[in-house]
Amino acid sequence: MDVLVAGGHGKIALRLLGLLAARGDRARGLIRKPSQAADLEAVGAIPVIGDLEADATLEPYVKGADAVVFAAGAGPGSGDARKATVDLGGAVKLTDAARALGVRRYVMISSIGADRPEAATGSMLPYLKAKADADRHLIESGLDYTITRPGSLTDDPGTGLVTLTTELGNRGPITRDDVAEVLAEILRTPSTIGTVAELFNGEVPITEAVKSLHP
Ligand SMILES: NC(=O)c1ccc[n+]([C@@H]2O[C@H](COP(=O)([O-])OP(=O)(O)OC[C@H]3O[C@@H](n4cnc5c(N)ncnc54)[C@H](OP(=O)(O)O)[C@@H]3O)[C@@H](O)[C@H]2O)c1
Repeated sequence: MDVLVAGGHGKIALRLLGLLAARGDRARGLIRKPSQAADLEAVGAIPVIGDLEADATLEPYVKGADAVVFAAGAGPGSGDARKATVDLGGAVKLTDAARALGVRRYVMISSIGADRPEAATGSMLPYLKAKADADRHLIESGLDYTITRPGSLTDDPGTGLVTLTTELGNRGPITRDDVAEVLAEILRTPSTIGTVAELFNGEVPITEAVKSLHP
């Protein structure tokens, strides 16, 4: 399977690309800085140079993919403008490119709180609005989406045990290792298509949690 991961040098993205490459997928990561290419190659991934904000279309990079993953983010230090151009704009461009090329499978890293952005304050408000709008655009695109909304990300070692639930509105931590494992499993589990689920560390082994996710 050829998978293009947008935001390919992100902390979750690098973990995911490594998992995909290790199981024999063609793992491609979209990055805007050529200096990051070696880090992708080190995990067995193929760097693709492109910019989610500066490029008018992502079609040249999406071409040939069987699935795309949105793993980019403007980051907590960014202002409202980059939340609009990366968290929303980048995800929308990826959706539109996938739809134009007939690449049906799209896995989105969203966020807890995107079910009720209006309840957020401070910099979380524009961030969660951007995430909610990006999710809505994807759902309305008609593509085969799976939207994963992780809780607070940590760099603790993965546990292999999660809570993956379509009941929205919860809070809790989740390791980036475990998010990457869940996304890799989702990519080979078509029964997850059409779901929006929150993800936390929990009690259920990842393969079992993903298998039990249905629309
Ligand atoms: N932090 C949390 O607790 C939390 C909770 C829920 C969900 N999330 C979401 O989880 C996702 C992944 O998190 P993470 O910690 O793995 O992210 P991360 O390490 O901050 O990675 C984000 C990546 O996006 C890339 N990017 C930004 N602008 C770009 C552009 N114009 N073109 C191409 N790439 C661009 C960055 O590359 P550069 O090096 O070029 O900037 C970076 O590699 C994000 O969508 C985030 O919003 C976070």
